[in-house]
Amino acid sequence: MSKGKYYVTTPVYYPSSKLHIGHAYTTVAADVMARFKRKIGYDVMFLTGTDEHGQKIERAAKENGISPKEFLDKTVGDIIDLWKTMEISYDKFIRTTDDYHKRRVQEIFKKLYDKGDIYKSEYEGWYCTPCESFWTETQLVDGKCPDCGREVELTKEEAYFFKLSKYQDRILKLYEENPEFLQPELRKNEMINNFLKPGLEDLCVTRTSFDWGIPVPFDEKHVIYVWIDALSNYITVQGYPDNVENGYNKYWPANVHFVGKEIVRFHAIIWPAILMALDIPLPKKVFGHGWIILEGGKMSKSKGNVVDPVVLVNRYGIDAIKYFLLREYSFGQDGIFTNEVLLNRINFDLANDLGNLVSRTIAMIEKYNSGIIPTSKLDVESDENLKNNATSVWSKVEERMENFDFSNALKEIWKLVSRTNKYIDETTPWILAKDENNKDRLDTVLYNLAETIRILSVLIQPFMDNTARKIWVQLGIDEGQGTNWEDTMEFGKLVTGIKVNKQSPLFPRIDIKKELEELIKGQENKQENKKEETNVEKPEITIDDFAKVDMKVAEVVKVEKHPKADRLLVFQLKVGEEIRQVVSGIAKYYKPNELVGKKVILVANLKPVKLRGVESQGMILSALHDDELSLVTADIESGSVVS
Ligand code: MSP
Repeated sequence: MSKGKYYVTTPVYYPSSKLHIGHAYTTVAADVMARFKRKIGYDVMFLTGTDEHGQKIERAAKENGISPKEFLDKTVGDIIDLWKTMEISYDKFIRTTDDYHKRRVQEIFKKLYDKGDIYKSEYEGWYCTPCESFWTETQLVDGKCPDCGREVELTKEEAYFFKLSKYQDRILKLYEENPEFLQPELRKNEMINNFLKPGLEDLCVTRTSFDWGIPVPFDEKHVIYVWIDALSNYITVQGYPDNVENGYNKYWPANVHFVGKEIVRFHAIIWPAILMALDIPLPKKVFGHGWIILEGGKMSKSKGNVVDPVVLVNRYGIDAIKYFLLREYSFGQDGIFTNEVLLNRINFDLANDLGNLVSRTIAMIEKYNSGIIPTSKLDVESDENLKNNATSVWSKVEERMENFDFSNALKEIWKLVSRTNKYIDETTPWILAKDENNKDRLDTVLYNLAETIRILSVLIQPFMDNTARKIWVQLGIDEGQGTNWEDTMEFGKLVTGIKVNKQSPLFPRIDIKKELEELIKGQENKQENKKEETNVEKPEITIDDFAKVDMKVAEVVKVEKHPKADRLLVFQLKVGEEIRQVVSGIAKYYKPNELVGKKVILVANLKPVKLRGVESQGMILSALHDDELSLVTADIESGSVVS
């Protein structure tokens, strides 16, 4: 019987072809929570999607020389592919350009207007396009966006405003009366101290300076502010306001919105205020998790320090990545990603602790009982400790998951993994096997091991579905044969007499030193290989393919030899107002000082890489003739777009 409904959401993502491991963090956590709740008996609705309107998208499409629709078709497709690779078990995927969403956002806007909570005025202030956020003069930090530190633009236009200020007291009261609403606790303090105490100002909720958005239904030269559009996705996808019967009535209010800490303010202030204005229930919880950062700070495409989740999944498998993300980092806090930490987790927790436990047990059943799961005949008192441990983990996992404490939920499961490994050391089956008189005891030990592994496999399934299934294959059981959540509460469910199937190790041990070298080499080679491929005849491309390359004229302001590679030069290039560092393999053809002042062509949107430890943010065009490489130069203003 169902325990009830559970509605869990991720944010709608800004479409981008290159989401990094930090982006994947929100979705992996939501996915595991959805799988967990399904496993323990809830009727789950897991929603994700894409946030496709706004100036940021309009500009990105323009920079790529394509229409927003063309830009979105490619990037949204890439996000869907990524979630497939990461085995994200969403039930619904919303695109904010879907017709039903646009129509319903217009209805929501009209309702707010009719209620008097939206009024027309004039907006003058600062706007951060990458964050799609408005800021007042006093909120800026050193004249820049307080969230991302980038330039803001002064904007003045006729606009509609939402009476956010009116809801200030109700939001404070909401936090007071529902300590569960916003978690972890420190996010609440941030909201109170940074936004609520200084006083909420009314929010500008329309724009006229660009078109890529949902038009205000009664004043079409305005488009609706992208955050109002995006936040509404959580209810429009369920049919609000016109078709509430099946989705909305059943699933709203959401049980939890998973969001990263930088978008808590939208979810914990603006969103509840809109819902209050609409007179509909609020989500039960907003959980603002921390960031996965690199040693140099937050991952971002513009900094070029991103970790590609696809590379990690291809090398180590999705189960290892999900386990690592949720075990290594405390969900509410920031955590630093390094390859070493990842590889150590895989080797110690997965290959050694869990993997060895399973392979040793299956190998012993093969060796000492012809591969047949024996019947337990001679339990001794010391077995009780293992059994009690095994049958009590589920409640600890449930409790940790209730608190969104993924890391400690896994830790509880791994305590049982350790306890079981210790049981092997205590019972020494290889010694028991030497004496035929100990056969009953040996059978019992082997059964207890296999049975505990069955329980473990069910406990890990929400986190590592493939691994759980691989274990079932090894134990010779099918789904449904002791694989339900309730089956973790009882010892002795594993049927005896079935044949085990020895398979390759669940997690092959990694040679960490070699692997780290390969990971670094892989990155360095990528860009060098690209150059060498240039003489190969290439397939035809369309104008759209070509338009994806962002080429700009750049002026050389400084050139130095690469500290570690003779064939490389390190350029500082001025592209409009921006300075870019690019590493190029042309040291054989030019002396550094003869290049300063030249205007070259830069491929500006090439993914940044490190070449022998020096970051390169793009590529300079060159031409090869009779084995002579020459830079392509142009006498055109720096920053000009080449097309
Ligand atoms: N489109 C908005 C959300 C609108 S919801 C009504 C948005 N999109 S996003 O693509 O920029 O971010 C998606 C998710 O990725 C967010 O939860 C964000 O916090 C998360 N992350 C992006 N970088 C991150 C890290 N480096 N670490 C952890 N999570 C981070 O915001």
